[in-house]
Amino acid sequence: MLAIRPLEPGDVERVQELASDPAIGATSLVPSPFPADGAAVFVARSGAQRAAGTDFVFALVAEPGLVGVAALHGVGAPPGSAELGYWVGRPFWGRGFASAGAGEVVRWGFATLGLARITSHCLARNTASARVLRRLGFRETGRVANTHPKWSPDETVVHFELLRRTWSGAPPDSR
Ligand SMILES: CC(C)(COP(=O)(O)OP(=O)(O)OC[C@H]1O[C@@H](n2cnc3c(N)ncnc32)[C@H](O)[C@@H]1OP(=O)(O)O)[C@@H](O)C(=O)NCCC(=O)NCCS
Repeated sequence: MLAIRPLEPGDVERVQELASDPAIGATSLVPSPFPADGAAVFVARSGAQRAAGTDFVFALVAEPGLVGVAALHGVGAPPGSAELGYWVGRPFWGRGFASAGAGEVVRWGFATLGLARITSHCLARNTASARVLRRLGFRETGRVANTHPKWSPDETVVHFELLRRTWSGAPPDSR
């Protein structure tokens, strides 16, 4: 069982511990090396962004406690759209937490925010992340050379989208 809830100040210590693993930043935009105050800054910023309605960051909570984070970023830019991101702490990989957590955040974004479209992207070599997205029904929309300074321009980035009207979790009358 996995639940999502807004990230809160009490999560700082656990997020700091899990996000400090270089494996998290290696394939995501989580800073690596992770700063000593990285989680405190991230949790505080998440609260401000939620209040502003631009970004909604959730803790993924399972039997071991907080196992990861999933978020909708850039809500409403463009209108009706948001970008999905997520990570799961390495001790908890391969247990379906990313798929379940990202799935709950997608459901929340469509149902509560009324989004029409959710996008996401991952490095082509990030097989696990691409599996998460395809499993949720995202379809690939393109492949481009990486432009982020974190990785080489030789790396390929795969872009995905999920439309509410084609999402299998949507109630029939909302399609
Ligand atoms: C990508 C990530 C979120 C996956 O988390 P997870 O909880 O292990 O994912 P799940 O258990 O839900 O697995 C999803 C799928 O990936 C597969 N998978 C898991 N680890 C894998 C690996 N190392 N290589 C290939 N496939 C893998 C699973 O078998 C599953 O496939 P299935 O749907 O066919 O069963 C996690 O590895 C992570 O946080 N990585 C670092 C940060 C990151 O890359 N975030 C995403 C940025 S785009």
